[in-house]
Amino acid sequence: MDYANKARRRGDKIIAIDGPAGSGKSTVAKEVARRLDFLYVDTGAIYRALTLAAMREKVDLEDGKALAELARRVKIQLSMRGDSLKVMLGREDVSRAIREQALTERVRFVAQIKAVRAELVKLQRKLAENAKGAVLEGRDIGTVVFPTAKYKFYLDASPSERTRRRFKELRQMGQKVRAEAIAEDIEKRDKSDMTRAVAPLAKAQDAVFIDTTKLSVRDVVEKILDIIGASSQ
Ligand code: DC
Repeated sequence: MDYANKARRRGDKIIAIDGPAGSGKSTVAKEVARRLDFLYVDTGAIYRALTLAAMREKVDLEDGKALAELARRVKIQLSMRGDSLKVMLGREDVSRAIREQALTERVRFVAQIKAVRAELVKLQRKLAENAKGAVLEGRDIGTVVFPTAKYKFYLDASPSERTRRRFKELRQMGQKVRAEAIAEDIEKRDKSDMTRAVAPLAKAQDAVFIDTTKLSVRDVVEKILDIIGASSQ
């Protein structure tokens, strides 16, 4: 029997991976999901897509009520296209648009609204529960979205290494960015993610902490698969 079937039967089909920007969690989560044939849920992409919808519809980012209403109304879908994540907002493919730096700086306004989070958490739970197994990555997966998940990981890396990774990633996407601007953005986002009143970024008490500064993606993936007992998959 494959890992997904066994995990479902045991009731541990959810893998939660949290951490700050540049900790390596997206790349790692995607690869763990691929190896296990689990669904990959990038929850940051969902917050980003909603932010894009708000910008497009000129919703005031300070207006919590309007943002919550928008969260209830928009249709956000995630799927895989080869190795990359495809994000749909309604009928539009927004996979690239949601990675723009100008948008990244605005996500925090949307992510701090309680009613918005409630709506998006509902979507995340539904996606994961309908799948045969799921790897979810974000900021509050182990603490809020699936606090009872058996497998929880918290990834982090030094600020300079996180900046270096984000810089490389954005350059590869063809964005013209300066390393200083990335470092500033990461610092600002960490602060806002960790100090917001609702679902702040935090390591769940029972999450396994992995410092990825000196580890390759492969190292981290193997470590996780080892812990969940799927290293031979
Ligand atoms: O993972 P990311 O960098 O794509 O996430 C973008 C922003 O979305 C991040 O700065 C905070 C927010 N976010 C959140 O509040 N909760 C999550 N579970 C995932 C992301």
